[in-house]
Amino acid sequence: MVSRTLLMIPGPVEVDPEVLEAIARPPLSHMSTAFAALMQEALAGLKEAFDALDGQPFLIAGSGTLAMEMALANLVEPGDRVVVVDTGYFAARMAELAEWLEAQVIRVAAEPGALPDDAQIESALRGGAKILTITHVDTSTGVVAPVERWTALAHRHGALVVVDGVCAVGGQRFHQTLWEVDVALTGSQKALAVPPGLAIVVARPAALEVYHQRRTRTRSYYVDWGKWLPVMEAYQAGRPAYFATPAVNLVAAMVASLRRIRVEGMEARWARHERIARSFRAGLRAMELELVPRDPSWTAVTLSVIYYPDGIDDRLLREIEAAGVTVAGAIHPALRGRSFRVGHMGEIGLPALLQTLSAIEIALRRLGHAVSPGAGVAAAQAEWTREAGA
Ligand SMILES: Cc1ncc(COP(=O)(O)O)c(C=O)c1O
Repeated sequence: MVSRTLLMIPGPVEVDPEVLEAIARPPLSHMSTAFAALMQEALAGLKEAFDALDGQPFLIAGSGTLAMEMALANLVEPGDRVVVVDTGYFAARMAELAEWLEAQVIRVAAEPGALPDDAQIESALRGGAKILTITHVDTSTGVVAPVERWTALAHRHGALVVVDGVCAVGGQRFHQTLWEVDVALTGSQKALAVPPGLAIVVARPAALEVYHQRRTRTRSYYVDWGKWLPVMEAYQAGRPAYFATPAVNLVAAMVASLRRIRVEGMEARWARHERIARSFRAGLRAMELELVPRDPSWTAVTLSVIYYPDGIDDRLLREIEAAGVTVAGAIHPALRGRSFRVGHMGEIGLPALLQTLSAIEIALRRLGHAVSPGAGVAAAQAEWTREAGA
């Protein structure tokens, strides 16, 4: 038996038993009307989660990286100029992917924990770019990008906007249609609170139009929109269709999670994530721990990337684990060995938050760092109840 800890990494996240039960049922035929009905419901629910009522959702088997590939491979042709706002590890992956597709890539980079200036982005766009990519929340730094503002900037320069929302959609406020984001994407295992294995892309009309005007073939067979569009359109009409076998059990799980999301409501879900993040950070401040994002307005609500205090290193991860909670080490090369990451997205509530802060306190004390027992937990509780007006 594997002993269970509370999973507080930035994906995969804790999953509700209702969602797990949906996976445990015997697989449906992917050509049954019962499965088509599930897909129809999943696609409608995803449009709500992305707030993209004019969007075309694609839901396919794969991870978030495949969703990134679906977004770029369908839009990029060799030689196209792609501007990548490089806020960390996953933005760098977007640049690598665009290069792989033989785009001419212009990176607008910032130090870890910072955002580039609008003027830097504007000057990169001025040369006539086809696409601007933005990582909404870069999971390696915990920085959140001003998607709405940068999208408007890109559109003024005639570029399409692709937003990597893998660590954001379902937790971080996002309005794809209102903000006019052309393509947004995520994976199932983050704030949508489903196990890993589904890649999700939502494309709005201007992006589909650019796909239809391509001069060259998409450089990836599996993610080609031409293959998937008729399938997704059939599902949306409640009819079965086939291009490649869907992950039927995971789709059932996605439907179960989207039902829970609908009951909660997106506004309430975003507000819950904001409250959790504020309370968690009150706890971190009480322990005198510092975040990597340099400005509070740049700090994501879905995860915290936290510097180790002096004298503490990756041993802290093992001590937190021994106290019953799994958190993650750094993945940004400049932050490795200097920081750790805590995901607080999806089904997260007050109990998990307090348990995590308590485990961090215990672990710090075991490594000889001075923290008064309960300081972080008390500060988080105070923030939580203050917000409730109690
Ligand atoms: C912002 C971001 N983009 C892309 C990815 C890649 O997703 P996956 O690991 O599911 O392929 C991740 C994974 O953590 C991510 O956080």
